[in-house]
Amino acid sequence: MVTISLSRSEPTSARADVLVLGVRAASSDHVFGAQLKAMGFTGEPDQIVTFPAADLARARLVVAVALPKEPTTEQLRRLAGGGVRTAVGAKAKTIALAFEPADADELQAVAEGASLGAYAFTSYKTKPNDTLRSITLLTSLARQASATNAVTSASIVVDAVSQARDWVNTAPADLRPPVFAQSIKEWAGDATLVTIWDERKLERERCGGILAVGAGSQVPPRLVRLTYRPEKAPRKAMPHLALVGKGITFDSGGLSIKTGAGMQTMKMDMAGAAAVVAAIGAIARLELPIRVTAFACIAENMPSGSATRPGDVLTMRNGATVEVLNTDAEGRLVLGDGLALAAEAKPDAIVDVATLTGACIVALGERTAGVMSNDEPLRQQMVDAAKAAGELVWPLPIAEEMKEKVKSSKVADLRQHNPKAAGGAMFAAEFLRAFVGDLPWAHVDIAGPAFNEEGPYGYVPTGGTGFAVRMLVQLARDLAR
Ligand code: BES
Ligand code: ZN
Ligand code: ZN
Repeated sequence: MVTISLSRSEPTSARADVLVLGVRAASSDHVFGAQLKAMGFTGEPDQIVTFPAADLARARLVVAVALPKEPTTEQLRRLAGGGVRTAVGAKAKTIALAFEPADADELQAVAEGASLGAYAFTSYKTKPNDTLRSITLLTSLARQASATNAVTSASIVVDAVSQARDWVNTAPADLRPPVFAQSIKEWAGDATLVTIWDERKLERERCGGILAVGAGSQVPPRLVRLTYRPEKAPRKAMPHLALVGKGITFDSGGLSIKTGAGMQTMKMDMAGAAAVVAAIGAIARLELPIRVTAFACIAENMPSGSATRPGDVLTMRNGATVEVLNTDAEGRLVLGDGLALAAEAKPDAIVDVATLTGACIVALGERTAGVMSNDEPLRQQMVDAAKAAGELVWPLPIAEEMKEKVKSSKVADLRQHNPKAAGGAMFAAEFLRAFVGDLPWAHVDIAGPAFNEEGPYGYVPTGGTGFAVRMLVQLARDLAR
């Protein structure tokens, strides 16, 4: 991990390898005015130029980043992330970053963007590049308590997002269900109470969906429950949020097997579980005054002689029977059990996060998640929390005709799969709705934004993105007030 610190040094005198400098206006009286001009720096959005600091600063190199006159916090995050990535590309080992944040909120956004942009996954590189060690944020706010708090909060959130990214990036052979469950316990066990259900316990607890999805794998499924209850805050009148995450450590499709190309990125199919676990860990470490219970529904979806077949009928945790018609629509089966368990705890709201459908990517593209809900105020709260956290989320309806489609099985209570692809994200959501009873519930489909198959941008790396962690932490903040 990169260490983050604060300093009141001037950009020119800061001790660092590379100086990342936010430039609002490249006027001729700017210290680097001549260099900026020579580099063709005009200050247009997203412009970044790099030049040697020569004897104008202690740093070896300057990375100048154009800042808008009145940037939003998300613009600051992205630009700080982009500046840091450019510096890392120039082999920076230490960075001084001068963005002149106006207040603690802006400083927190800069700290988040800079450290998220510094993320690198090197576990499998035998000769990793020299990595960045430290980022010093230059700001006149440096000695204020609010500034220290902002950096501490940012570090807690960034640690959580980075852990979610690491889990997603880990090779699926190295993160099979029992290993993932154990790793969750190791990461979150000091801040939350962690209980792992193995296959025998899942059997006793009648979690037919999770067991059915794991049935084809050589390794058994797991359910991990995490609980957080603040020590200091009063017990009464505290909101209770339940989180449920899809944790398919590899989705081959099962007997309804995917194509070779279709399963290339399917190690990422546990990103929802990674996000909810990372979020509850961050919420606990931030000591937010809210109760949170999280369920990670973990299985490996594989074809074999013991795999679940199309045509099989399952009995889920809530007693409902489900006719399986496509074993590649496995996420809704593990989530059905997780949602039923969450509903049993009678929380004020349930939020599930899942890389659930290709249909959601068709609808909203690769960078925006869809949110579907049975409760309009909660859906709006989700959209607002995502916006405040700088994550792209857009509301989708659950069209009413989905209700009869989900109920249309000839042999069971529910039909798992609609043979028509149209409205696939909504059909899946309608299926999930059957497991939450009357409780306010929102479903976030992160199939697009959980994994970045293209080059890095802003503070988003290639591979696992840690998407949804920040919006969930923000939701907890909003519910707690
Ligand atoms: N994990 C996939 C969804 C997915 C696809 C996530 C692409 C990220 C990128 C999910 O389990 C799945 O396979 N869904 C099927 C459902 C279909 C069989 C109804 C899909 O979207 O094709
Ligand atoms: Zn699938
Ligand atoms: Zn899947």
